[in-house]
Amino acid sequence: MIQVENLTKTFTTRKSSKQVVGGISFTANDGEVFGLLGPNGAGKTTTLRTIATLLQPTSGSVLVDGLDVVAHSRAVRYRIGFLTGEMKLTGQLTGREMLEFFGNLDHMETARIQQRIGQLALDLDMERFLDTPIAKLSSGMSQKVSLAISLLHEPHVIIFDEPTSNLDVLAVKIVSDFIRRAKEEGKCVVLSTHILSEAERLCDRIGILYEGRLLCEGPVDTVLAEHEARDLEQLFFQLVQQQKVPLC
Ligand SMILES: Nc1ncnc2c1ncn2[C@@H]1O[C@H](COP(=O)(O)OP(=O)(O)OP(=O)(O)O)[C@@H](O)[C@H]1O
Ligand SMILES: [Mg+2]
Repeated sequence: MIQVENLTKTFTTRKSSKQVVGGISFTANDGEVFGLLGPNGAGKTTTLRTIATLLQPTSGSVLVDGLDVVAHSRAVRYRIGFLTGEMKLTGQLTGREMLEFFGNLDHMETARIQQRIGQLALDLDMERFLDTPIAKLSSGMSQKVSLAISLLHEPHVIIFDEPTSNLDVLAVKIVSDFIRRAKEEGKCVVLSTHILSEAERLCDRIGILYEGRLLCEGPVDTVLAEHEARDLEQLFFQLVQQQKVPLC
């Protein structure tokens, strides 16, 4: 479970200071998929990086399974699997070697690493290219290796920043099915995506983020009914358009 309470994040340089997350609150429950939606620059990645302990909140709090991400960052890292588009893999190591490397880094037992590699290769349909150097993989294949790395330690909380970017329709289905299974196993999944139809299919709850503020948050059916929108696309345009209308 993830509890975000009044979270703000301000990036400060010597010359300027910019608040990119402006006091947001939401809860992502176990056994549910929470989707963070919003246009480019809305603050989605910043929020997810804060939950994943890679950034510290400026104010407010984030709890992962009851653990504060600042005070208990190490314990939180054990519980989460984090995938972000910013971590591009490359080099001569194969997917299998990368997974073994990260498993050892996490002090996982060798037998467990091998068991997890076998399972993830099957789940994510990676067997064909697991022994090919990463540099020779297509971007979709290397995205799958990144996904597998984030899931190797079998995290309870899964944080995916645009997990399906670069993937073809077949691979999108594999990842979507994986997310559904994770949810059925009682895991807590938070993802960001630009693909609203994907969010509608996958998410139990959503939050629409715009310029660092949540314009709406809640179960998909409830937010659609509240705003009399037929689908997430209509809701998204409706809410974003309202923000652009100048106040008289
Ligand atoms: N390390 C940083 N230092 C300064 N500003 C930053 C930093 N990281 C992000 N920003 C700014 O914060 C704002 C939000 O960025 P963020 O990456 O969170 O958006 P996003 O919603 O993930 O966008 P996208 O859909 O393009 O991935 C942007 O204006 C960005 O320029
Ligand atoms: Mg982003």
